[in-house]
Amino acid sequence: MGQIICIVNQKGGVGKTTTCVNLSASLAVLGQKILVIDLDPQANATTASMAQAYPDFKNIASVLLGEHNIVEAIVVTPAQYALIPGNSALTATELHLLHNEQREYCLSKCLAEIRDDYDYILLDCPPSLTLLTVNALAASDSVIVPVQCEYLALEGLSSLIRTIEETRETINPKLYIHGLLRTLFDGRNSLSRQVSEELLLHFKTKVYDTIIPRNIRLAEAPSYGQPILIYDPQAAGSLAYLQLAQEILIKDGRTQTTQEQLTATGPLPLLRQRASKPESMKE
Ligand SMILES: Nc1ncnc2c1ncn2[C@@H]1O[C@H](COP(=O)(O)OP(=O)(O)OP(=O)(O)O)[C@@H](O)[C@H]1O
Ligand SMILES: [Mg+2]
Repeated sequence: MGQIICIVNQKGGVGKTTTCVNLSASLAVLGQKILVIDLDPQANATTASMAQAYPDFKNIASVLLGEHNIVEAIVVTPAQYALIPGNSALTATELHLLHNEQREYCLSKCLAEIRDDYDYILLDCPPSLTLLTVNALAASDSVIVPVQCEYLALEGLSSLIRTIEETRETINPKLYIHGLLRTLFDGRNSLSRQVSEELLLHFKTKVYDTIIPRNIRLAEAPSYGQPILIYDPQAAGSLAYLQLAQEILIKDGRTQTTQEQLTATGPLPLLRQRASKPESMKE
């Protein structure tokens, strides 16, 4: 059965879209069938996935408005994951949804017919806890919370956790936190290490072992419309997202690999054993 994961943090610029795009590319290279849905009016996941966006693409805004079937809006990206693009029309769509009696469940209903066509559906959310994010939380099985290892990172985190718990109590009883992901980590910076330790102290096993380092190649890749696995497969950021993908597969019981093996060898030997690269990534 397909798992729907939303990537949520109401704080801006913490690495939600970077995680969505690069985790999706990594899961795809590990043989998983992936769909990304770009729920952010900024549409950064769309532009980071495809160098060329076509104006006639159908998108999640028009799907939510019932203008056409969700299947018609799916495009395949060069990194071998499927995508339903977002665009700025999502802001108006959100206002429109407010008048819908079942406004929290619009996305959930749209996803019902395709969820089992994929191993994972990843939802990239805007930096707010407004109706689009509530729709994402209502449609999801679990949540990944990227947390930037910097000043004020923990501020707002408890209110986000509360929102997730309230969502579970009111509109989506199956929702759970898949994991908290430390992003933009700079090991030379004592503040980064301090925030990382505090997260572990408060949230313990909910924090992924994998840490995403601050890596310039991760920041460059979106301007080429490419996930880092295509832009620079050897970069530290690329290896980190591969490692995260494997950690998630281990956590979900979708691989024979153990966390101990992953910690001991890093992601590459395991990748060679289990996956062949898509055509687009071959030299
Ligand atoms: N690990 C990283 N190393 C270097 N740069 C990064 C990293 N992660 C993200 N960035 C850069 O930081 C900026 C914010 O990242 P991103 O867009 O993923 O955050 P976001 O949480 O999706 O933002 P928003 O809330 O606006 O949607 C982007 O320019 C991105 O390229
Ligand atoms: Mg974003």
